[in-house]
Amino acid sequence: MSAFAKRERYGRRRFLGRLAGIVAAGAVAPSLLSAKGGTKGSKPDEAAPLVDSPPVLQRPTESGIVVTWAVGRMATGYVEYGERSDRLDRTAWGDRHGLKPCHERFLQIRIDGLKPNTRYWYRTVTCSFDYHDAYHFERGEPVYSEVFAFETSGPNRAEGSFSVINDTHNHQPTLKRLTERLALVGADYTVWNGDLVNSFDNADMAVEAVLRPGGAAFAARKPMLFVPGNHDYRGRWARNIPLLLPEWEHPAEEDRPFGRNFVVRSGPLALIGLDTGEDKPDRHPAWASLARFEPWRAAQRDWLERALKSPAVATAPFAVAFCHIPLHWNDPNGNGGDLTTGYASFQRQAANLWGPLLTRHGVQALIAAHNHKFRYDPATSDRSWAQIIGGGYGQTDELTAIHGRAVGDAMEIAVDELNTGTELGRWRFPKRN
Ligand SMILES: [Fe+2]
Repeated sequence: MSAFAKRERYGRRRFLGRLAGIVAAGAVAPSLLSAKGGTKGSKPDEAAPLVDSPPVLQRPTESGIVVTWAVGRMATGYVEYGERSDRLDRTAWGDRHGLKPCHERFLQIRIDGLKPNTRYWYRTVTCSFDYHDAYHFERGEPVYSEVFAFETSGPNRAEGSFSVINDTHNHQPTLKRLTERLALVGADYTVWNGDLVNSFDNADMAVEAVLRPGGAAFAARKPMLFVPGNHDYRGRWARNIPLLLPEWEHPAEEDRPFGRNFVVRSGPLALIGLDTGEDKPDRHPAWASLARFEPWRAAQRDWLERALKSPAVATAPFAVAFCHIPLHWNDPNGNGGDLTTGYASFQRQAANLWGPLLTRHGVQALIAAHNHKFRYDPATSDRSWAQIIGGGYGQTDELTAIHGRAVGDAMEIAVDELNTGTELGRWRFPKRN
């Protein structure tokens, strides 16, 4: 068992246990267990739960965070927060262009103006909203979540840590085991390294796969960092995923198109998110001329160069990059995502564009996914980064959770295999130059 596993920072209470923590003023929240899907009209469906998932923290920066949660019927909501658990004296309304949020399936509230490396407490507040017409509506009593704590990101912290899960494909037994592991380890961030689903077909399955995976409140305290996988681009509903997976809002104008790329600083550790896109060439007939991932990967080269030179990365003693499809492959003639037969084992275009940059800036590790099979490739004399590929899910014999922790002079990354309870590997990385 890894050292991480021994550090149980909080219990394994899952979402079912949290139902008791939801307090309704003047109303009882209907069963969250019957959450099969919300109504799609304006009339309330009494069978649908009002609150349909725990809060999920995303897009953590030094000054803010985004709270997303699911509702089962038309509702409005806000977040109360503060620097003391018993004094949530501030409110984030989530208003945009003068209008507060109201939605039948997702609520998303951004909290701004926070201090770096600071602990805050918060709770979500949800009110049903029965909308008849512009002048006639009924607003329900507020329903409060329990109070959770989180910490803003930033460099002023002795230790930084992350966990990685990947290729979960909405397989609920797998998600249950992985989220239990995440709770046990208690890393600062969970990187969800792609293929959250087979395809995004509708809002209900998106809620199940992403906002209450395995029934767990997996990111109510420790934020989740979404790295897209090829399957996350599929399905008729895929263009709606910012409703529950908010895009990053980078301050510099030239960075604004890169809403699925991120840099998060966790003490001495910089985490860099990249997007390898689909696993077949844009010209592949399966994409029906809808794909433009080749220009997207090329554009990310320049974003990556800016990110690597930014103070958040340049001053970090440890740097780890994440992308779904591997960049390194032992067979240079293998499928690099540029063939119209089969699918990619690795991403040749991204490897050529991003790989040398990662080396030039001394990034120590790249964590990938996609192949459903664990693999480790050490750094070489001409490649600064080791590559770790996470395993698969379900019936495969390698269900992995990867954990990294940087403190003092070293970063350690370990791969736990959850089916056999073994550790597949543990590696130590010194500070980069
Ligand atoms: Fe994949």
